[in-house]
Amino acid sequence: LREEGLAKIEACTSTKELQDIRVLYLGKKGPVQEVMKMMKDLSQEERPVFGQQVNEIKQTFEKAIEEKKVTLEASEINEKLKNEKIDITLSGLKPNLGNLHPLTVIQQELEDLFIGLGYEVAEGPEVELDLYNFERANIPKDHPARDMQDTFYIDDETLLRTHTTAVQMRVLEENAPQLPIKVVCPGKVYRRDDDDATHSHQFSQLEGLVVGENIRLSDLKGTLELVARRMFGESREIRIRPSYFQFTEPSVEVDVSCHICNGKGCPTCKGTGWIEILGAGMVHPNVLSMAGYDPLTCSGFAFGIGMERVALLKYGIDDIRHLYTNDIRFLKTFNRFE
Ligand code: PHE
Repeated sequence: LREEGLAKIEACTSTKELQDIRVLYLGKKGPVQEVMKMMKDLSQEERPVFGQQVNEIKQTFEKAIEEKKVTLEASEINEKLKNEKIDITLSGLKPNLGNLHPLTVIQQELEDLFIGLGYEVAEGPEVELDLYNFERANIPKDHPARDMQDTFYIDDETLLRTHTTAVQMRVLEENAPQLPIKVVCPGKVYRRDDDDATHSHQFSQLEGLVVGENIRLSDLKGTLELVARRMFGESREIRIRPSYFQFTEPSVEVDVSCHICNGKGCPTCKGTGWIEILGAGMVHPNVLSMAGYDPLTCSGFAFGIGMERVALLKYGIDDIRHLYTNDIRFLKTFNRFE
């Protein structure tokens, strides 16, 4: 029995086979158990001797099976590893990485700049009340200036905001009469424009507002110079020209020296060396007092940047519609990780 069993164990070629042999020899119906049963027919003296022999055979089998198992397992793992060999020279699959939309990049750069200057970022609803979009911005009903911002009305009192100035009006009301106020308001705005290369019925602005004691036009100029340099390069200059907005007085239009020709004159700046980038001004006293501030003890500046315009100029994009049509080939050119 011993020889036969050991030979069978040795002949096993897989752990599965070995398991079968174990059941066959050591199981309930196996020969070892059979022999055990014979013990009851033996005499008192024979029994321990016989028992010892059977136990010895049993232990021999167990030991042999255990040893065989270790070798079989090792060779099975080796076999498996051999078949699973990885060819590290094979070129892999490139994961399809997304990237930020150019407008998002511009918005984040501007937000970072202003957060660095101690501003807070404020947001407001796109479906806005006439009150904040127009009235509080010193644009009363029937004022011809409302035409300038051809509006999508929802009903008499609600509309799609035409500028993020509406958010600034909310911030003023919420904080009055606390000073100082330093916020930038990024977001989408809507106007009834026919879409073409330079117009879109929906676009995005980032408007800034500072109100405090003794805030002056020179503070506005310094701030905007910083913006121009951050967005278009450190050697940029700005110039301000008189303009008109209802919510600022005086109002200005801000030009930045052309980043393509360095101010010498090229098609991008129409030969002038300057590119108009934003509107701004000193907050109108009416705006301050309507919101609950005393225009005699505080003053402020505000500015509004069209983010599409910055993106178009900065990246040399020739059609604003590229920013909305989501052509993946266009968007991929802004992937900074490739
Ligand atoms: N709200 C103006 C616009 O949409 C921009 C602006 C903001 C001008 C703040 C002056 C001050 O055109």
